Amino acid sequence: EKGTYPNYMLKEIDEQPLVMRKIVQAYQNENNELTIDIDIVNAMNEADRIYIVACGTSYHAGLVGKQFIETMAKIPVEVHVASEFSYNMPLLSENPLFIFISQSGETADSRSVLVQIKEKGYKSLTITNVQGSTLSREADYTLLLHAGPEIAVASTKAYTAQIAVLSILANVTGKSRGIDFDFDLVQDLGIVANAMEVLCDKKEEMEDIARKFLATTRNCFFIGRAVDYYVGLEGALKLKEISYIQAEGFAGGELKHGTIALIEEGTPVVALATQESVNLSIRGNVKEVAARGANPCIISMKGLEDDEDSFIIPEVNELLTPLTSVIPLQLLAYYAALHRDCDVDKPRNLAKSVTVE
Ligand code: F6R
Repeated sequence: EKGTYPNYMLKEIDEQPLVMRKIVQAYQNENNELTIDIDIVNAMNEADRIYIVACGTSYHAGLVGKQFIETMAKIPVEVHVASEFSYNMPLLSENPLFIFISQSGETADSRSVLVQIKEKGYKSLTITNVQGSTLSREADYTLLLHAGPEIAVASTKAYTAQIAVLSILANVTGKSRGIDFDFDLVQDLGIVANAMEVLCDKKEEMEDIARKFLATTRNCFFIGRAVDYYVGLEGALKLKEISYIQAEGFAGGELKHGTIALIEEGTPVVALATQESVNLSIRGNVKEVAARGANPCIISMKGLEDDEDSFIIPEVNELLTPLTSVIPLQLLAYYAALHRDCDVDKPRNLAKSVTVE
């Protein structure tokens, strides 16, 4: 039940810190160490390449997951949109492992790929919020999100739960391969949960930002580099699906290859700056769009901030910033939709689980 909340989306955004803590608990053993079913860890280690297959928001979580698995477990990963995979199948490696990411576990596009790869005899793992769902039953292994039911059509807490579970899977697999980490994931996810709480308390600030940047706009662009690019894609999807503002996410470096032509006087451009290695370059992109009249809204992480920034997120492990930087974007979409009198929980033309291909 949504209790005192005006809708499910806001409630589910607010549940994210709690979900982070639940996930850490669910994946901890009696010594408070993170663990994953040994069969799954073995399947990860036997794979010469991992193929992540998903749709929409879950696909965006998969892009972040690739980063985790490649950095923490050093296994090569490809991420694919399920609907394209069947006819655009890449040349597969000799020992692939397929990871299906699906909140509902019922998405037909993903299931169709699962059926095909099972016929070829390949192993599969489903990461889902719904125990006993089709994708969970039909795959060899399942990891649960522990996010609780997600009712609003726009996915919020399932996205951050997927990213957290993927970080644990990558970390535990990496450790099993003898890879050393200079950070403690349990501690860092705890810091993330606290940061999420701080962010969820900044609703008024985000509502003001939504009003300032999105009140009358027809479109909005999201730019970022490295992992911020992936979060930008998710921010754009959230905004378009619930507020109907045309929104697109781009890699900062791609702007000059075409998209910059769309910048007009007053076009809002949301820029994410959470990664030290690309901080200067993304700020360069902001200058480029501002010089052409854009209205830039910079969301940066503490430590990398600048006077011109609109919003600063607390500092967390740089690998884990998608868990925090997405929250202001969720709230931005939420308030933009609310201000336009849109039905936030049930946007037009969309269904919570897409059971047709
Ligand atoms: C966006 C959204 C969709 C879903 C997509 C996949 O907010 O909710 O893009 O992420 O339809 O759904 P699942 O994860 O259930 O397979």
